[in-house]
Amino acid sequence: MRFILTEDYEELSRRAAEIIAAQVREKPACVLGLATGSTPIGAYRELARMYREEGLDFSRARSFNLDEYYPMSPDHPQSYRYFMEKNLFSEINLPREMTAVPSGDTDNPPETCRAYDAAIEDAGGIDLQLLGIGQNGHIGFNEPDDTLYASTHLTPLTEDTIRANARFFSSAAEVPTHAISMGMGSILRARKILLLVSGKNKHEALKNLYHDKIDPHCPATFLKLHPDATVICDSEAYNG
Ligand code: GLP
Repeated sequence: MRFILTEDYEELSRRAAEIIAAQVREKPACVLGLATGSTPIGAYRELARMYREEGLDFSRARSFNLDEYYPMSPDHPQSYRYFMEKNLFSEINLPREMTAVPSGDTDNPPETCRAYDAAIEDAGGIDLQLLGIGQNGHIGFNEPDDTLYASTHLTPLTEDTIRANARFFSSAAEVPTHAISMGMGSILRARKILLLVSGKNKHEALKNLYHDKIDPHCPATFLKLHPDATVICDSEAYNG
């Protein structure tokens, strides 16, 4: 695991966008694994600027998002599909039909999950997987537990996550209780991993990445098994 410490969120966002842009330039038909949450917004803004001002070209790329609430309609303003449209897809030239977000309104979650992993494999696997981290150490919606899922799956959200994500809804009661998430295997099969950690509230989760232990109660620690994982953290996350 490689750590990059940045002064602040702006620098973190810039460094992240540079790494993603380098991937797109090196392999224009690349497969990007994308994440939601407040953390990647700055990097998405910077990628949009690079598209507008520097001609960064996404026209041959494709993307798979990590997760989606369940049940959730794609046009709900808190859906992750809506988030991606607003924060990235509408700002760059990634063809819409090349973007995938797990469908939160499926009536057959097991089949949707199976098909999602199959689609990633058919696309040749993910070249670069962008990740944020939950305060409880989750990645995607792989929640802390005694055991973790390898494949894309339907999962209940923990109380901690529902509380943390309630800020985006009018109340905690409105946060969906479940999500469809790529599993740990789906994530770890990506050829490169880029984890962004920003803000004081991520300090405890970040500390778990420094020592040598792997712990299903902090799913992000499994990224230590990956041969090409980069963590970019800002000074607030680092110092706590
Ligand atoms: C959500 C998402 C994660 C994300 C995490 C942190 O629950 N499922 O993919 O990394 O929250 O979000 P934020 O960046 O807003 O702290």
